[in-house]
Amino acid sequence: MPSPVPNPLPVPCPVAREGGSAALERIRGVMADAGFLQSDVTEQLDLPSILALATKTRSELLARAAGDTARDVLIRLFTLAEPVDPDTVACALGASLRDDFHSFGFIRLANGGDRATVSITPVRGLWIASDIAKSGELRPSDFVMGIGTSTQTLDTLTVRRRCDRALDLGTGCGYHALLAAVHAETVIGTDINPRAIRMATLNAAINDVLNVQWRLGSFYEPVSRETFDLVVSNPPFVISPENAHVYRSAGMSGDGVTETVVRGAAQSLNPGGIAQFLCNWAHLKGTDWHDRLAGWVEGSGCDLLVLRSETLEADEYAAYWVQHTREESSEPLAERVNRWRASYAELGIEAASIGLVLLRKRMNASDSPWARFDDAPRSMLGGASAAVLRRIEVEDALQDLSDAELLNASLRISNAVRIEHTLRPTDGGWGMEHASARLVEGLAYATGTDEGGMHILMQSDGSTPLRAILMQLAPKLGCPFDEVAPTILSMVRSMVRRGYLDLPGSG
Ligand SMILES: C[S@@+](CC[C@H](N)C(=O)[O-])C[C@H]1O[C@@H](n2cnc3c(N)ncnc32)[C@H](O)[C@@H]1O
Repeated sequence: MPSPVPNPLPVPCPVAREGGSAALERIRGVMADAGFLQSDVTEQLDLPSILALATKTRSELLARAAGDTARDVLIRLFTLAEPVDPDTVACALGASLRDDFHSFGFIRLANGGDRATVSITPVRGLWIASDIAKSGELRPSDFVMGIGTSTQTLDTLTVRRRCDRALDLGTGCGYHALLAAVHAETVIGTDINPRAIRMATLNAAINDVLNVQWRLGSFYEPVSRETFDLVVSNPPFVISPENAHVYRSAGMSGDGVTETVVRGAAQSLNPGGIAQFLCNWAHLKGTDWHDRLAGWVEGSGCDLLVLRSETLEADEYAAYWVQHTREESSEPLAERVNRWRASYAELGIEAASIGLVLLRKRMNASDSPWARFDDAPRSMLGGASAAVLRRIEVEDALQDLSDAELLNASLRISNAVRIEHTLRPTDGGWGMEHASARLVEGLAYATGTDEGGMHILMQSDGSTPLRAILMQLAPKLGCPFDEVAPTILSMVRSMVRRGYLDLPGSG
């Protein structure tokens, strides 16, 4: 079976050339003037998002960009990796712009057509170059991925406060580093793949971002003894026995990558700094995974927040990832799945979870950090980044709030809550058959709730103390106040954490 080899095509390198910055200015100009921008391209291709190309067939997409305008040509070249007749390119972009794209290596002439050497995605106000993913072809070992679902999820959840220094580990095409450059004074992106560092350098140049540095090396090695206010990483987290693609594997056993980035964060954060990792972790036989993750940060002076999106049994996990990465191996699927399963059995891996792992370094070494594990919501909507920051603040507040203080507090239902009720007729009235509450922004939790939960949500008007609400509720539940209070208080804490209820002075 053939092993993947490095990509023979060089990454375009306009920065090193004389006149490079002027030519890049012209290239930016033509892409902007043509409307090669996120909203225009998604509208033209009729996509729900710029990353949803797979929702349409290739022929549908090509038909939607079949014209001769500059945008049509840019989409065919850089979004769809379709060869375009050189005269058409010169006509649409201008002959000198075609020369610019060629001379810097964005386009090369092959078999009589102009072909892009990289994919360019207009996203979040940036143009992001990455390697072209060719369907049905084995990917090169040093493939630099574009923006994937995990990339986007980490972006959505990243806390975007103004800060001094940010770090993106395993930066790939540099997307997270370039986004951090908007709210951090200085950003460093590290990667072990030299091709990724070249791609990230290209992206900084295309977007004229000057406050980012790129460093070649393994995770924290290129920044040892440096500290940061924000650390982010979407590392090669898939737990597998394979090591052929650097964007997918760092060659560490089990969930060693996740352990490495999490453990390293504690040393790399400034007081008050936040590290956020989108990653997978293993459930090992005979070990509670909560204890294992908490152990990675124990004694580090960091709080730990884990939002778990999903857990798959080892067999399902192998089947999912082998199918998902079928472009990376020519080994028959069933054999590959069996090999992965056997490696999990050997390591005692019974299941694996995916989610966000967040650390926040305490301001004072004498503080007692908290560790909180929760499920992530199914959807993360606009404002998720602010909701993550709110969650940290809420955990701080709840840690300091006794049950007696919580009972005296007047909580307020969040404006983002929507409640749905299904009622059924009962003798002489109506009974509740089903009720659910969901949030319509940020970490958009949705949950079924019982009569007690509904009562609390609906009565929390910001001026009635929780104690009074529970006094009304207890007789309805047919239980004395003291008996229901502990369960209800724990439910209320969860409602506050997830954003259904705001504590006084917040929200
Ligand atoms: C899943 S990709 C994510 C890329 C990009 N950050 C994103 O979110 O789209 C993982 C990245 O980690 C890099 N990587 C793999 N092993 C590494 C290591 N030991 N140290 C640093 N980066 C590594 C890969 O080259 C790749 O760019």
